[in-house]
Amino acid sequence: MLDSKVAELLNNQINKEFYSAYFYLDMANYYEEQGLLGFSSWYKIQAQEERDHAMLFIDYLQNNGGKVKFETIEAPAKDYKNFLEPLEETLVHERYVTSLIHTIYDAAYSVKDFRTMQFLDWFVKEQGEEEKNSDDLIKKFKLFGSDSKGLYSLDSEMGLRVYTAPSLTV
Ligand code: FEO
Repeated sequence: MLDSKVAELLNNQINKEFYSAYFYLDMANYYEEQGLLGFSSWYKIQAQEERDHAMLFIDYLQNNGGKVKFETIEAPAKDYKNFLEPLEETLVHERYVTSLIHTIYDAAYSVKDFRTMQFLDWFVKEQGEEEKNSDDLIKKFKLFGSDSKGLYSLDSEMGLRVYTAPSLTV
C-alpha cells in the first residue's frame, strides 16, 4: 500500500507529464507555423514521450493500489518571441520536472518505500538526459541557428529524430 503523500505526489505527476506534452505540442505548433518542420517534428516526438511518462505514472499507481484522479491541464499560452525561446523554455521546464521527480523520491525515501524509489530511478536518469538534450540544443542553435543555411541544416537534423518507446515497464 502506498503512503498517502507518495500516492498524492505520484498522481500529481500524471498531470505534470500531460501538461509537458501539451507544452511541447504548443512549441511544435509554433515551429510548424514558422515553417521549421524539423523542429516541429522533434517537439511532437518530445510530446509523445511525455504522454508515455504520464501513462507510466498511471500504470504504477494502479498496480500499487493507488487511485488516479485527473486534474485540469493548464493551457501553455505561450507567445514566442524568436526561435530560441522555446528551446530555453524547454530547459527551464525540464529542470522543474527534475525537481518534481526529486520531491517524490524524497517522500518515498522518508517512508522507506523502496519500490517507488526503484520506479523513480528510471525518471531520475531520464531527466538527466532531457536536461542535457535541451542544453545541447540551445548551444547548437546559438552556434548555427543565426544564419539561414545553418538554420536549414539544424532543422533537417532535428527532423531526423525518431520516436522510441520508453525502456521502462511497470
Ligand atoms: Fe517527462 Fe520531459 O519529463
